[in-house]
Amino acid sequence: MVASFAHTVRSGFLAGELAAREPALTVRLQRGLGVAEERLRGFAAEAEDPYVARIVGHLIGTGGKRLRPLLALVGAEFGERDPGIAVDTAALAELVHVASLYHDDVMDQARTRRGAPSANAMWGNSVAVLAGNWLLAKAARVAAELGPEILQLQARVTNRLVTGQIRELTGASAGEDALSHYFAVVAGKSASLIAMALQSGAIRTGTPETTVQALAAYGEHLGTAFQIADDILDITAASEVSGKEQGKDLAVGVASLPVLLALANEGPEAEELRELLTAAGRGREGAAVVPRAVALLRDGGALAEAEAMMRTRMLRARSALDGLPEGAATRMLYALCDVVADRDH
Ligand code: FPP
Ligand code: MG
Repeated sequence: MVASFAHTVRSGFLAGELAAREPALTVRLQRGLGVAEERLRGFAAEAEDPYVARIVGHLIGTGGKRLRPLLALVGAEFGERDPGIAVDTAALAELVHVASLYHDDVMDQARTRRGAPSANAMWGNSVAVLAGNWLLAKAARVAAELGPEILQLQARVTNRLVTGQIRELTGASAGEDALSHYFAVVAGKSASLIAMALQSGAIRTGTPETTVQALAAYGEHLGTAFQIADDILDITAASEVSGKEQGKDLAVGVASLPVLLALANEGPEAEELRELLTAAGRGREGAAVVPRAVALLRDGGALAEAEAMMRTRMLRARSALDGLPEGAATRMLYALCDVVADRDH
């Protein structure tokens, strides 16, 4: 079993009760994840220059939760063809994700990712951006080999990822509600790729269109909930557990959901938080503001409110599954809602 698959199991996505309840499916998914992992590592190794291969392979090699490959393989279970043929869609989804992380860590000035130094920390911003471009070009080739429908999907989703990130940077437009803006950003930068993973796996195995659409809707809601959980974990998770720096969003002044909710309140706490984040955003205080900002978010109830919103999205994800055929793959998607909602990294 490859290292990062072991990580997927440890992280709970295929662990414990779920694996015990659906043993045949779990074994099939484990096998698929192992093959997808080999493909992923193989893509990086295809770089002609060994030094480039090392750079583009860096974040693949550090592992990760591999949620997107897992979802591609579960999506493939709904079709009429052998789900084994969907391993390339699993690798494709992770390839796009990893490419986006190279760029994201430059934008967020992140020093660590997946428990290791970020690519920008190791080789600088320019090299990290170019490595992301290399991986995205590789993803386009893989998608082209999977046919025009998957290539078009991958291109549309890449546009959505980039649009989401640009909108995060530009902030809400004049008169736009801050929460609507937040959810538009999250739909683009996170939910779109999670939905794509499910869709591409399902398309690959010839799944009926209505089921593909239900899986896409599930993915959009699950992806939004996943990103809200990420926002909460940025504030609450110790870096040894998350593999990222605790409070990074706060330190660079990113408006995550708990922060938006806290700032929407009146009163001295919101005012104090606004001042702390403005100072952090200007780069004056950075990490120094984090402990006090965390306390304000926890004590003022913003973290609890964000968690309630995450659980509402999870209920919508579950509702999207209503139209799916009864079976092990559908049960797996229900169970994943609980695992994602309760994740600690
Ligand atoms: C993590 O968000 C980042 C994303 C989910 C998407 C990033 C997308 C881009 C940079 C657009 C470019 C895309 C490609 C494919 C090259 P986060 O910073 O909130 O989460 P984190 O805690 O994991 O850093
Ligand atoms: Mg980031």
